[in-house]
Amino acid sequence: MGMTNDQARNIAAVLTEALPYIQRFHGSTFVVKYGGNAMVDEALQNSFARDVVLLKLVGLNPIVVHGGGPQIGDLLTRLNIPTRFVGGMRVTDEATMDVVEMVLGGLVNQDIVSMINAHGGRAVGITGKDGGLIQARKLSVTQPGPETSVPEIIDIGHVGEVARVKPEILRTLIADDFIPVIAPIGVGPGGASYNINADLVAGKVAEELGAEKLILLTNTPGVLDQNGATMPTLTLRDVEELVASGVISEGMLPKTDCALDALRGGVAAVQILDGTVPHALLLEIFTDAGIGTQITLEPVTESGVAAG
Ligand SMILES: Nc1ncnc2c1ncn2[C@@H]1O[C@H](COP(=O)(O)OP(=O)(O)OP(=O)(O)O)[C@@H](O)[C@H]1O
Ligand SMILES: [Mg+2]
Repeated sequence: MGMTNDQARNIAAVLTEALPYIQRFHGSTFVVKYGGNAMVDEALQNSFARDVVLLKLVGLNPIVVHGGGPQIGDLLTRLNIPTRFVGGMRVTDEATMDVVEMVLGGLVNQDIVSMINAHGGRAVGITGKDGGLIQARKLSVTQPGPETSVPEIIDIGHVGEVARVKPEILRTLIADDFIPVIAPIGVGPGGASYNINADLVAGKVAEELGAEKLILLTNTPGVLDQNGATMPTLTLRDVEELVASGVISEGMLPKTDCALDALRGGVAAVQILDGTVPHALLLEIFTDAGIGTQITLEPVTESGVAAG
């Protein structure tokens, strides 16, 4: 099949534009959170998988952390297990935790692994239990009491937060050129499983490995302002204000929280972008434009580098 001169010039331009990024990022680690809400159809999953394989082949070290909220909900419904949410978090008793572990560690994780491998990558699926990767502690949730407004502690079961990351298993996989795909399940004292928000897992993993970038792929074009417009750059101060005014809420909260933690922990940049755009990852990493919302601790200067 022939191509026009224009098409050829475009392709050459794209490849040339990518070169400095490929050189700059060679050997660096990119932690990519792949949201359950971005895995909407197979074409998109394939485009994501191809991007990850390409990143690896040009010398970057991608690490995938995935979510799966919608997929957990689906199976619970099919199994007739009722669920309750407190403050946006699923109350997770033993039976629910079994389903969470099956869906995240079994179904969703292995789907992503197969997809990456089908495109020629070497993905290995693990949960936070493998090699003790994600040490969890039970998340303590408080809510205002029914009559008094005195906060009371609510037991939401096996919902955890990251206490510590033990990165050895990841270092081993990276050294042998595998692509780790991590399900956000942590192990608590005594070996209990905990369901942890995947954004938080991705943030802590990025921090522990000193990643170049933490990329959160979700189902919105980025962090949106009160009018629904995407905000291309945000600082720590902006995020604090947007949280206080309620513009950042629900599923976006753990993303901005973990972004700030990761930045304070030494991760160079955090980007929140729309995973439902084909090849979002490539556009973000290898083009001058960049897409979505970039979060930094300090304001970004003209040159595009965070000041301070
Ligand atoms: N200011 C905001 N800008 C954009 N989205 C926001 C904002 N505030 C709240 N949200 C909500 O956050 C959602 C994204 O988080 P959500 O947890 O639903 O998806 P995910 O994290 O990508 O998937 P998963 O939780 O399965 O891993 C958006 O769809 C939107 O409803
Ligand atoms: Mg989420």
